[in-house]
Amino acid sequence: LLTPAAPRDLDGLHVVVSAGPTREYLDPVRFISNPSSGKMGFAVAENARDRGARVTLVTGPVNLPDPSDMQVVRIESALELRDAVIGAAQDADIVVMTAAVADYRAAELKGEKQAKVAGDVSIHLTPNPDILAELGQNKGERVLVGFAMETHAGVERAAAKAAHKNADFILLNYPTQEGTAFGGDDNQVTLVRADGSHQDWPRASKRQVARQLLNEALRVRGQRTT
Ligand code: CTP
Ligand code: CA
Repeated sequence: LLTPAAPRDLDGLHVVVSAGPTREYLDPVRFISNPSSGKMGFAVAENARDRGARVTLVTGPVNLPDPSDMQVVRIESALELRDAVIGAAQDADIVVMTAAVADYRAAELKGEKQAKVAGDVSIHLTPNPDILAELGQNKGERVLVGFAMETHAGVERAAAKAAHKNADFILLNYPTQEGTAFGGDDNQVTLVRADGSHQDWPRASKRQVARQLLNEALRVRGQRTT
């Protein structure tokens, strides 16, 4: 019954978290998306709240209820996610991008349901904006954290992303670990910095990984402001 109170070490900070997938509609009834459950992002938002932060959670469509005591913004597309995150990030201290942002959207959104035609079809896709990179271009004092799921050369690819996007660190994981990543309650990640330095974290609950993530974000913030 008596669980120790979380330290209020994020008191006075604004933490912005993105979570879940985006949906890129092709027509009114069809979209491109991915299986992101949102659990990792919700865990980060809840841990930040419990540690005293003001939290804005921007989430794509997921089967999770709104957590209490934070601002929850429900979006669908990457363009909507971008507007909500960039807006909330203006006065943010820490931004954590766990959202699985679709890299492309339909070049043309059809206003009516498209009937099938005989034979093959192709869809013209156009790139979505890179929200983390955009935040990195105007970083200020903010701590920026990304996630990356890779199938190969994970550390190299994640370090290149951290460098390119000006993120302080990226948590890397692999889709092959059972019970982790998409939909699971656990996660096994490697912390990767832009300089290629990295550290494997033991497999743990997403709640525990969220706690460690925010510990590391606070450490980065402390190094920057002292
Ligand atoms: N991200 C973002 N905006 C995008 C795509 C990705 O903000 N349009 C963020 C994700 O939320 C994540 C990080 O960037 O925190 C890495 O995402 P990932 O898909 O691994 O990176 P990409 O640059 O899209 O590279 P890839 O070609 O491997 O998909
Ligand atoms: Ca991507």
